[in-house]
Amino acid sequence: MVDKNNSEDVNRRGFFKRILMGVGVTLSYGTGAVYGLQFLLPAKKKDRFRKILVTSLKDIPKDKGKTFKDLQGREMLLVNTNEGLKAISTTCTHLGCKSYWEPENTRFFCPCHDGVFDVNGNVVSGPPPRPLDKYEVEVDENDNVFVLVKDS
Ligand code: FES
Repeated sequence: MVDKNNSEDVNRRGFFKRILMGVGVTLSYGTGAVYGLQFLLPAKKKDRFRKILVTSLKDIPKDKGKTFKDLQGREMLLVNTNEGLKAISTTCTHLGCKSYWEPENTRFFCPCHDGVFDVNGNVVSGPPPRPLDKYEVEVDENDNVFVLVKDS
């Protein structure tokens, strides 16, 4: 004769074992899937910026430029134009020659191959394939001029 209570006990135990095993397998595969997705689709790193104090607003008259270097030693030019302060890399995007601000022509000029850039660093003529690198400029309440540069 089969003991009904004992048979139900075994069935109940078996049921709970299967449930726990299912939960364990689900957690294991779920964890594996999360790590697998993180490996395949890594989170994009956010660019970090630093403010560099370049000068005071009163020390940079209209149409004049001030050269400075960022944290990697790249040279930039801060120019006070009619369109506001512009911080632009002096490194030409063609072959890396040094470009200059020409206030009389309101443009950046690269003498190596006559590359011409407008006041915003956009290519006007010549062989440069893309605009000069630009940087954000901030002026605080004390007229200190900061440029935001990428932190390495
Ligand atoms: S390097 Fe500047 S135009 Fe060629």
